[in-house]
Amino acid sequence: MRKKYINYFKYASVDYMIDKDGFLNFLEVNDNTLAPYFIEKKSEIVERDTAAGNPIFNLNRHHKLLFLDCFRKNLKEGQQIAIVCKEKGVKSGIENEVQYIKKLFNQNGFQADIYTPDDFIEQEGELRIKKTGEKPDLIFRRNFSFPESGLSINVINDLCVRNIANDKFKVLQSVRLLEKYFPVLRVPETYKAEYTEEILKWVFFFQQKGEDCIIKPNCLYGGQGLLLIKCSDSKEEVYRRIGQINPVEGGYIVQRKIEAARFRSGNSKKYCFDIRCMVYGGRMAGIEGRRSGVPFAENEEKGLITNIARNGVDLIVVSGPVSRHNYAVRKMKCEGELSSLDFKVDRNYLMLSYGLVKCMRNLSERIVEAVDSQIKNERIEGKENA
Ligand SMILES: Nc1ncnc2c1ncn2[C@@H]1O[C@H](COP(=O)(O)OP(=O)(O)O)[C@@H](O)[C@H]1O
Ligand SMILES: [Mg+2]
Repeated sequence: MRKKYINYFKYASVDYMIDKDGFLNFLEVNDNTLAPYFIEKKSEIVERDTAAGNPIFNLNRHHKLLFLDCFRKNLKEGQQIAIVCKEKGVKSGIENEVQYIKKLFNQNGFQADIYTPDDFIEQEGELRIKKTGEKPDLIFRRNFSFPESGLSINVINDLCVRNIANDKFKVLQSVRLLEKYFPVLRVPETYKAEYTEEILKWVFFFQQKGEDCIIKPNCLYGGQGLLLIKCSDSKEEVYRRIGQINPVEGGYIVQRKIEAARFRSGNSKKYCFDIRCMVYGGRMAGIEGRRSGVPFAENEEKGLITNIARNGVDLIVVSGPVSRHNYAVRKMKCEGELSSLDFKVDRNYLMLSYGLVKCMRNLSERIVEAVDSQIKNERIEGKENA
């Protein structure tokens, strides 16, 4: 397939929910997802399981290579990468991830170290490391606000990516244009609403159509502030719940609830799940999965939310022969190995059909291209208006 050059959106995840009929419902793109460390750890388990005779295909087999490739396209051997995160040395998922990435870079011909914004000084539009006075050749940005865009330094991802990627409504609109080219894609009907009255208007609109809807902040992350309004909720109940919503920057979106497929966990309960395609330098490199921490039958609203920050659980996504609905669940043979991980993973695999994976690859790469073009266009417009 024709591969376009990606200018800005070089480290991307494209998130979907599979619905009951096996369609890919697009949710959002992210520019700062925790992934490489999680993917590699889980990939080791899949490799051992495949070697033990489980007929599954490891979707993340080339993940590490493609991740490094994306940096190699931007750097020469021996050049310096500064991994910038909000804090360092604090026990957390992000700390494990950046330590892993640092090691990976250093083992593969780069010079990498971890920094926080305080470690830098800005001089005449250039960013230097305070201690050494050196100018890193590339910054891998693993925080939400630093460095600002427009400095003379190569950043993956430059903060300008965030302006678009973070705006769910904007991205949904451009992904909707791809629906006609990808029969597997569904983009949930979504409306933007700034104020309580507008939110109410769209909620009643969905209720009148006999549909449940989701209200969520347009520019937040981690499953924050998500509300489910059922079509059967009374007017009083709707007024009461929406009355409690506080204004947020970027406003809210009101979105049709996806009739999500359920994942049968190793504990036999059923959960909603989503999948995240990691796309590096425009190429799909791996697939991550998450399921909700709360079974759907226990609490419908909490049961929809899969974010790790809201008690979601990691899934290992593999591929294999699947007939009905494009996905299935398969028991892990090396579930004992899960105890070696320092994060919670379900004991069942999520298995996707080969056909669905192929569609996801084409679609996710196309979505990243589209968002990348959108970023480029906004930058040109921004300069023209300046
Ligand atoms: N329209 C929807 N229908 C059903 N579940 C949804 C819908 N939108 C979001 N969710 C659930 O909530 C989670 C968080 O929503 P998302 O749009 O990804 O925002 P965030 O930026 O907070 O991650 C999703 O991963 C999914 O599990
Ligand atoms: Mg999300």
